[in-house]
Amino acid sequence: MSNECNTEHIIKQRKTAKVLADAPWEASLNPKEQEDLIKDLLDLAACAPYHYKCAAKYQTYGLESSLPFRAYTLNSGTCRTLAKQLQFMDMPPGKIVNMLWAAEALIIMTWLPDVFGEQPQERDIEPLPFTGNLRNMEHIAASSAAIQNILLGATHKGFPNYWSSGGVLRQKPAREFLEISLDEMLLGCLFIFPQNAHQREVEIKEGKLHNEGKNNSTWSKSITLGK
Ligand SMILES: Cc1cc2nc3c(=O)[nH]c(=O)nc-3n(C[C@H](O)[C@H](O)[C@H](O)COP(=O)(O)O)c2cc1C
Repeated sequence: MSNECNTEHIIKQRKTAKVLADAPWEASLNPKEQEDLIKDLLDLAACAPYHYKCAAKYQTYGLESSLPFRAYTLNSGTCRTLAKQLQFMDMPPGKIVNMLWAAEALIIMTWLPDVFGEQPQERDIEPLPFTGNLRNMEHIAASSAAIQNILLGATHKGFPNYWSSGGVLRQKPAREFLEISLDEMLLGCLFIFPQNAHQREVEIKEGKLHNEGKNNSTWSKSITLGK
């Protein structure tokens, strides 16, 4: 198979898989393998195109990059610890706990909004609504491209994966526990599940919209201009 065909194959293979464990799983990778997996996926994320650097204020959190997004990574052990902690929080964690019990890794991706005017010293929620300007649109676009690279990389390596909006992980108690500033906008909690998840006796939910609206003629139009 040529490289190009392989790329097409991986893109077409990618699909949502929400792996819902009934109890905390033993990880299938050892800690070094998990670290390597996370590093590989981050390397792919960093290859994504981006148009604008993030605002200078975001380069002072100890993460100095000018990229318009940040990634916070958890290995399987940290996922299990987080699952335990969520059960003590006021908000019902829902299925996030089941996925934290199954995950080999979790990558939490945020994008870094340009903000205007005076900002609160302390936040209870993310800066919503954010300013709808072109730079912010392109920050989100670049961050989404980085996320897609991660999902494709995980698919290529055979790890079922899922882009979640984050649910309870967006909220202040979880953000404080994870030390992810509420100045940042959580764009995706990327669950990376064990390669053999489909062989285990466990519920795996697919994306409801996987096949919805996919006919090209229903969402694309060829423009022909008269000479
Ligand atoms: C920005 C974004 C956020 C998402 N958040 C959720 C979510 O919180 N819960 C969920 O069930 N699916 C979520 N999904 C996954 C979609 O449901 C899924 O991509 C869709 O059904 C299409 O299925 P596919 O990924 O298999 O193609 C999200 C997808 C995107 C792009």
